Amino acid sequence: MATRGGFSSRLGFIAAAAGSAVGLGNIWGFPAEVGAGGGGAFVLMYLIFCFILCFPVMVTEIAIGRKTQKNPVGAFNALGFRKWNFVGKIGILSGFLILSFYNVIAGWAFGYIFEMATSNFAIAEQFSAFKMQVFKVGGYGLVFMVVTAYTVSKGISGGIEKAAKFLMPALIIMMLVLIGYSFTLENSGAGLAFYLLPDFSKINGVVMYNALGQAFFSLSLGMGALITYGSYVSKKDNIISSAALITLADVGVAVLAGMLIFPLLGFITEGNIGDGQMATAGPDLIFVTLPKVFEQIGSFGAVVGAGFFVLLCFAALTSTVSLLEVPVAYVVDEKGIKRNRAVWLVAGFIYLIGIPSLIGNGYSEFFTNFITYIGADSPTSFLGFIGSVANDSLLPLGGCLIVFFAAHVWKKHNLDAELSVGNPSYEGSFLQKYLNFTISYVAPLALGVIFILTVLGTFFGIHLI
Ligand code: PHE
Repeated sequence: MATRGGFSSRLGFIAAAAGSAVGLGNIWGFPAEVGAGGGGAFVLMYLIFCFILCFPVMVTEIAIGRKTQKNPVGAFNALGFRKWNFVGKIGILSGFLILSFYNVIAGWAFGYIFEMATSNFAIAEQFSAFKMQVFKVGGYGLVFMVVTAYTVSKGISGGIEKAAKFLMPALIIMMLVLIGYSFTLENSGAGLAFYLLPDFSKINGVVMYNALGQAFFSLSLGMGALITYGSYVSKKDNIISSAALITLADVGVAVLAGMLIFPLLGFITEGNIGDGQMATAGPDLIFVTLPKVFEQIGSFGAVVGAGFFVLLCFAALTSTVSLLEVPVAYVVDEKGIKRNRAVWLVAGFIYLIGIPSLIGNGYSEFFTNFITYIGADSPTSFLGFIGSVANDSLLPLGGCLIVFFAAHVWKKHNLDAELSVGNPSYEGSFLQKYLNFTISYVAPLALGVIFILTVLGTFFGIHLI
């Protein structure tokens, strides 16, 4: 253990794992999905999926990590199932791919801090042009990657944990202040009503599919990020209660992000949030619509706007750190390369494979109109393509295989034994039965279905829902 390092305390682990979970997915992705369709109905489905379906997957990942004290590939080997280590490899590939474009978006958010601080609200109309200034935004992304790599290079307790212990509370405080402010705006109530009152008639297959995908991504599941973080957890800790706190923190921040953004949308649409006059979905929600709000709110606009993007960057940073830690842990454990070297090598490589995602937003015609899926009317950019492959396909596939493996290959009693370490009352509890059942049947099935629906629907234009 001494050479591998570990979290210094249970709280340190929870802060870091919650930091991984809380990211662009919560503060931008979640409200954007709510705005795209479903409103409160989406929120309800999201909450249900987080707790009943994703929480058991999280527990499983952490248990595999802590049992083996290894990265996602080494973990399968250490349990004696080398043949299954392809699941870990898929996870590491996902980490690579996700970080490569996630960092590009984080770079935009980073750049927007300066745009807002200098009251350049006109950027709202120039977002497309902004993305095309590839040297400038590529520079922002580079800074973001360097900060990520520096944090990871400092190790688990000295880098990742330390950063999370500062960034997470700071994020929550900033969020509460901004929420307080957004509530004072006119028509904020109309925004909140759209967000919080579920219209059950809107619940359909597509809303459920989106909600589960969002929950899964948001909790950082399916690629072994939590196997990796779990591998640094003490045997004294209670995995179940830690996972519950991580889930609560993630869901809590997503819900709070909605309470910040929907009042702002209520304000700018003068209460007519559902009428489509403002973008409430996709990247435009954050990079086009919100700057317009900040402009409208007058003298505080620059502070509130810059504060919002600082918050977004804090959230993104604790996630990029976890995305980088997964391949780094693999290289350190399996290839025997020293952490510091491994970190800079891997980070440099990921930055390079992110370049097509960077330039595929108008600058390079080839990467902008990268691929037209079967049955689609318009092409998808490289960034969108990687998102569909990694987030929407590989994560559910990885998650499906991880839980299937734990329940049916490694076997439930071994999982139960690990979950009982640090939690003696687990064996025989209702929770044990519930988790066993979910991990054995419900989760692999649901995630497998999501995977198939994505592959057929996205890539082949066969829409079963
Ligand atoms: N959960 C992070 C977010 O919501 C993204 C992430 C996914 C991080 C998978 C690590 C692993 O933004």
